[in-house]
Amino acid sequence: MTTRTLLIQNGTVVTATEHMVADVYIVGETVQAIGRQLPIAPEQVDTVIDATGHYLFPGGIDAHTHMELPFMGTFASDTFETGTLAGLHGGTTTIVDFAIQRQGDSLNAALDDWHRKADGHAVCDYAFHLGVTDFNPNTRAEIKDIITRRGVSSFKTFMAYKGALMVDDRQMLSLMNEAGQFGGMVTAHCENGDMIDELVTQHRAAGHTAPRYHAICHPEIAETEATGRFIDLAWQGKHPCYVVHLTCEGALNRVREATRRNQQVNVETCIQYLLLDDSLYDKPGFEGAKWVFSPPLRKPKDQEALWSGIQQGLIHHVATDHCPFCMDQKRMGEADFSKIPNGAPGIENRVELLYSEGVAKGRISLNTFVDLMSTRAAKIFGMFPKKGTIAVGSDADIVIFNPDVQHTLSVKTQHMNVDYNAYEGWPVQGKVRTVLLRGTVAIDQGEAKIGKGFGQYIARAPYQQALSNPLQVLTPA
Ligand code: URP
Ligand code: ZN
Ligand code: ZN
Repeated sequence: MTTRTLLIQNGTVVTATEHMVADVYIVGETVQAIGRQLPIAPEQVDTVIDATGHYLFPGGIDAHTHMELPFMGTFASDTFETGTLAGLHGGTTTIVDFAIQRQGDSLNAALDDWHRKADGHAVCDYAFHLGVTDFNPNTRAEIKDIITRRGVSSFKTFMAYKGALMVDDRQMLSLMNEAGQFGGMVTAHCENGDMIDELVTQHRAAGHTAPRYHAICHPEIAETEATGRFIDLAWQGKHPCYVVHLTCEGALNRVREATRRNQQVNVETCIQYLLLDDSLYDKPGFEGAKWVFSPPLRKPKDQEALWSGIQQGLIHHVATDHCPFCMDQKRMGEADFSKIPNGAPGIENRVELLYSEGVAKGRISLNTFVDLMSTRAAKIFGMFPKKGTIAVGSDADIVIFNPDVQHTLSVKTQHMNVDYNAYEGWPVQGKVRTVLLRGTVAIDQGEAKIGKGFGQYIARAPYQQALSNPLQVLTPA
């Protein structure tokens, strides 16, 4: 079989550090050459794409998704097939999903379970974090092998969801100590689970049922306290750490304080926290349930803080926490806000929304945009430079993006397997035109060209190794 070749001409190649008008020559699955007017005749290649007037971004990486997650008595409605295809439509070529341990089961069983759901089903590439919900001598014994042989170098802990997912500080510290020996990093959902449970008990006793009470029971201080505690636990053992879905000013200030003792705290926020606020919980009837997730939406002052955190280099990745539930599923909590399945869709909209609200509105540069939506996640999670950049030798995961097209987000045009869009009617500047995954055209003008099972599992390197990989620099040929 001959290796296929593809030439993208005249696009503006954007990486986390540079941008330049160039051609990109792809052989098989990888980028072979980048340069101005490459001396390759169009008739010598299998496919030529004219990208004049378009940006070429590295494929998006969404480091926080939950496909088919069993949660709160139901399952997230996107499968690995539907969710990753929707991601590709929106410019995401790799996801890092959470394989979650069932309390009492082994970590390897969780990983096996997630491989069964994803292998042969996912359309885009995928990797896993491991959600540790029960850290004990048996699970401790699994950690080394999981990092060094199974390609999973990040572990997720929950400081909330008591009784289902939450671990205590002792377990967290022990996990950090064990994973740290082999280059593993612990990540955390930072909310004080006890504070939340006490508030839920009070409000249920008072007969409060509406979605708004979800936000009232997950106050900013619950996240601020847990974020500071998580960072302190990591500091105590000199461990790396990563805060998932940070939402608010208070938590960001805990990160800021940690930098004063020169601690590196890796921080993720999600696109919904940058764009939406808690006034959505006041929509009539049960509509506010669409945005019931944890932590909840915050105030406009928190959105401002998050954009500032990005500008100040305190926030490194913008993910989605994609965890969709249809309205029928959400209605499980119609009579009790605490039973509404927590989660919302977003994987298809993240890249375009971040470009539109970030770059097009002048809040961030093109390079920062690429760093936030792809490069930094690849570095932090041990996939760089295979993923996360456009460079010679990297996987040819490329988004050809038209900055001039305006469109409107809607459930009517989305591919996510859920019956609402969290940004219904939102006007967007810029649109994904074509997406390449490992050198193959995956999406073109809204049409899928690949399908079930095209996605490959990405085994990831340990944390320190990932950070020491040098940045590749684009040089005109
Ligand atoms: O509400 C959310 N975020 N659901 C998914 C699980 C989690 O906490 O990340
Ligand atoms: Zn979470
Ligand atoms: Zn999550």
